Amino acid sequence: MIVTIDGVAASGKSSVASGVARALGVPYVSSGLLYRTATLLGLEAGLHLSDAASLLACLEKRPLRLEALAEGNRVWLGDRELTGDLHSSRVDQGVSVVAALPEVRAWVDAQLRALPEPFVAEGRDMGTNVFPHADAKFYLTASPRVRAERRAQERPEDVPAIEAALVERDRRDTVQSAPAPDARVIDTGPLTLDGVVGTVLAALPT
Ligand code: ADP
Ligand code: CDP
Repeated sequence: MIVTIDGVAASGKSSVASGVARALGVPYVSSGLLYRTATLLGLEAGLHLSDAASLLACLEKRPLRLEALAEGNRVWLGDRELTGDLHSSRVDQGVSVVAALPEVRAWVDAQLRALPEPFVAEGRDMGTNVFPHADAKFYLTASPRVRAERRAQERPEDVPAIEAALVERDRRDTVQSAPAPDARVIDTGPLTLDGVVGTVLAALPT
């Protein structure tokens, strides 16, 4: 079984995917972490973030591993854990440029499609492009202000600066962020995290 959870930036995708995965006893996989990994490695190598050929060469020769744990995904480069470096403002700002490159999207998609079922996959295009035949699809939304207030708990910047950056990233991600026609849209604004997880679990096919 494959469950997809897509949505706009900071709408709660990874927290909800983790809660659903834990309840089902399956892994979840964060596609965004792979785009963030490509961005971090590109920045650390001093590459131009729109230079697809150099980025891909850099990704393919490195010993990268995504650990798709239900409690939270972790990314490793050999023995070095990258997870803590993937949510910096520098990566936030560059990631949409990297995610616009078809070559990088193909690299991410190939890794996701190689995963053994069952799992929960979260991102932007899990229910449309990567797993169009998923068993259940969800799309999370919330107002930019609500999302910025939540993310302000995790970032040093203030709410208006975070909100502006989220709105700009949503704009740059528009192409790959359309909800699947058969996705159930959930506004997480008025709900608790447990409330969203419960809504998803209650809507799963039996
Ligand atoms: P995304 O993966 O979409 O960027 P996250 O899972 O990182 O989103 O969620 C952003 C923050 O919002 C997390 O700290 C999460 O715990 C918090 N949050 C608070 N309330 C909710 C809710 N009702 N639904 C989802 N996430 C919520
Ligand atoms: O957690 P947040 O919503 O802030 O971001 P994320 O899910 O980690 O995704 C980071 C970035 O990766 C997004 O802004 C998109 O540019 C890109 N992305 C994508 O293009 N397609 C996906 N399936 C997942 C992420």
